[in-house]
Amino acid sequence: MYPTLFSSFDLGRLTLPNRMVMAPMTRSRADQDHTPTALMAEYYGQRASGGLLITEGVAPTANGCGYARIPGIWSEEQTDAWAQIADAVHAKGGRIAMQLMHTGRVGHPHNMPEGARILAPSQSTLSGEMYTDEQGPQPYPAAEEMEEAEIQAAIAGFVQAGKNAIEAGFDLVEIHGANGYLVDQFLSPCTNLRADAWGGSIENRARFALQVAQSLVAAIGADKVAIRLSPGGVFNDIQPWPEQEDDFVWLAGELGKLELAYLHLVDHSAMGAPPPPEGIKQAMRRAFDGPLILSGGYNAQSAEADLAAGKGELVAFGRPWISNPDLPERYQAESPLNDPDFSTFYTPGAKGYTDYPSMG
Ligand SMILES: Cc1cc2nc3c(=O)[nH]c(=O)nc-3n(C[C@H](O)[C@H](O)[C@H](O)COP(=O)(O)O)c2cc1C
Repeated sequence: MYPTLFSSFDLGRLTLPNRMVMAPMTRSRADQDHTPTALMAEYYGQRASGGLLITEGVAPTANGCGYARIPGIWSEEQTDAWAQIADAVHAKGGRIAMQLMHTGRVGHPHNMPEGARILAPSQSTLSGEMYTDEQGPQPYPAAEEMEEAEIQAAIAGFVQAGKNAIEAGFDLVEIHGANGYLVDQFLSPCTNLRADAWGGSIENRARFALQVAQSLVAAIGADKVAIRLSPGGVFNDIQPWPEQEDDFVWLAGELGKLELAYLHLVDHSAMGAPPPPEGIKQAMRRAFDGPLILSGGYNAQSAEADLAAGKGELVAFGRPWISNPDLPERYQAESPLNDPDFSTFYTPGAKGYTDYPSMG
């Protein structure tokens, strides 16, 4: 018998009642000062029937908080507010992971707390513009190259954020190592031009990801630490490089040695991005040798097919879950879905956030 979407799965200490994971999605509903709100507790609570929910990207430090109204978890006030969210999900019988996202060079001072800085492995400037509440779209500012002490501070920030998330009652944390944010900026030779121990060879470019993962494992336990990666991804100006397949497979093997809770792979080809290199997901799966979450453009049928083919243990769904709080029940009942309203993905307030109807 192959696993179906509605079979349970033991993820470390957690028993997931189904194989459906809510993908991490930034929704920009936190306060201006990056503190989570009661509305966010309602949103995640509405979606508690998922096997595992993953929060939107949460900034571990003020420097990692590049977008408008994204939440952080560096202060006591933020941690207390997150506890309300974990409670809302647990009260409904759910399980929730927090995605830790340091935006690195993908930020604008108007979006960030007073005094925060835009730091990256190397000096660089993203092309295009970033939305700000104060002045609308603005050109990306230049990122400053991180000094050794700043790299250490960023790692320490991830660790403290992980401890705060566990203190708030989260079941585990997922390191956002994908989509051109800080961890990925270290991995990618187009954004990491360093000549010291943090740049050059894959061992050096992966040092940041691995030290964040190792330090979190030491602080909160391997069963509470996971990672998301985007092999072949091009979001936020990341450019593919000739050795990327070997690099990502090597990294997956090193992460596997840490016995992390899971590896979560991004595939944005359903969103118009180039598909990841042929075979890379399965090569990373073999190297990691632990639970794998697939994601990107899935519906119930394609998820069932990939689970049946043994391509992964779990499948994450993004956009369908924005507009269908009861997505597992709908898939199980083969009921029609509500369409997501793209215009309210990142706007403040309940509209397009907590007002999508459940069945019946
Ligand atoms: C509104 C929105 C916000 C997103 N924010 C994040 C994020 O914070 N972290 C992340 O890793 N991926 C983020 N993603 C990517 C999703 O996790 C997922 O990979 C993508 O939506 C493809 O899956 P889907 O086809 O099921 O929607 C976001 C996607 C959307 C639509």
